[in-house]
Amino acid sequence: MEKLVIKGGTPLKGSVTVSGAKNAAVAILPAALLIDGVCTIDNLPNISDVKLYVKIIESLGAKIEWKNEHEIVLDTRHIECTDETLDLTRKFRASYYLLGSLLGRSKVAKVGSPGGCNLGSRPIDLHIKGFEALGATVDVSNGNITATRDKLVGNSIYLDFASVGATINIMLASVLAEGTTTIDNAAKEPHIVDVANFLNTMGADIRGAGTDIIKIHGVEKLTGNKSYSVVPDQIETGTFMLAAVATKGDITIKNCISKHLESVTAKLLEIGANVESSGDEIRVWCDKRTSKANIKTLPYPGFPTDLQPQMGVVLAISDGTSIINESIWESRFQYTNELNKMGAKITAQGKSAVFEGVETLYGAPVYSTDLRAGAALLIAGCAAQGTTEIYNIEHIDRGYEKIEEKFRQLGSNIQRVEE
Ligand code: UD1
Repeated sequence: MEKLVIKGGTPLKGSVTVSGAKNAAVAILPAALLIDGVCTIDNLPNISDVKLYVKIIESLGAKIEWKNEHEIVLDTRHIECTDETLDLTRKFRASYYLLGSLLGRSKVAKVGSPGGCNLGSRPIDLHIKGFEALGATVDVSNGNITATRDKLVGNSIYLDFASVGATINIMLASVLAEGTTTIDNAAKEPHIVDVANFLNTMGADIRGAGTDIIKIHGVEKLTGNKSYSVVPDQIETGTFMLAAVATKGDITIKNCISKHLESVTAKLLEIGANVESSGDEIRVWCDKRTSKANIKTLPYPGFPTDLQPQMGVVLAISDGTSIINESIWESRFQYTNELNKMGAKITAQGKSAVFEGVETLYGAPVYSTDLRAGAALLIAGCAAQGTTEIYNIEHIDRGYEKIEEKFRQLGSNIQRVEE
């Protein structure tokens, strides 16, 4: 087991380059199973979730050639759904995308009930509702989800909630269906647009991704023979923006899309930090104590739930009392117990938490409870006086590429230590 040891208290300064988006990559890899041909995917983040996904699609029959640590050539001409992948699919949540892509490609799709971060109840009823509307039958039993179909026919589907996963999964299932599928109240996150762009590059006909209504006109075949580069990671970008503010530093973030971070930028300006964007760079700096703010997480373009814990660190040391309302995940405040071990004064109850700002955090041993909680602790460790040890860092490695190298490059005294 490894842990991260951080000697904090130094403002993070310098520049850092953002990797490809985890949440796009873990949808694009299964999306590639819809292609009856060969394609190249570049700018894949070098993270454990991507490596696991590649292993899964390899076990389904795809031939993979790594060109370098970020680029693969995928030959998906022969794909077969087998039970061998079930245990692997249980390991993370995004394996549910195999249901949509395998169902689009063949008559049976089967995954183990998806695992992933423990953020509270994570139902997939909307995914199932979508598959059924297209003509599939879905069975959930013995810890597996099995979708079968004779043929899939386009339909109009209204999502009760703008679910990211359901939007992408229904898109995947309908790309090769007969006729037109309409997803109403679709989610609009940047990686939904990226998956649609990938599929369209490979021969699909998807319109409206990034708006509330997505229309998918079924095509006969995706032929591939194209290259695609994964969009920069919105959440990694935001993590560095918040690290700059929490440590009173000055970070220029390269290879990012500032439009994807508008809600975060607005909050940072509100609390007194500085943000400047130009081209594919964002510079964030802060030389004074930030002030309180209230945050409510919402689907895109609202404040992302995946940056809520990192923002929580900033508010924990801001002047005044702040409130965060978490409207997406019911158990996303587990990190606040860890921050309190570092001297924060946070009271979390249900879906809201009150942050009484303290002047300083102090290093302590802390436990990463999920991916973004881990990122928050990393930022807290950099901002704190003294030494912080972060345990359970496999959560962080699921979604952040070479994280300690990137933080070290910004001046952080951080080591990965074998326990
Ligand atoms: C994705 C992201 C995750 C992020 C989340 C919200 C990936 C791999 N993960 O997760 O990092 O935190 O979006 O931005 O992209 N819901 C239902 N029924 C469903 C599906 C969802 O009730 O069938 C509810 C969930 O319980 C939750 C809300 O909808 O309260 C949002 O879920 P969703 O947008 O689907 O999140 P994920 O796709 O799982």
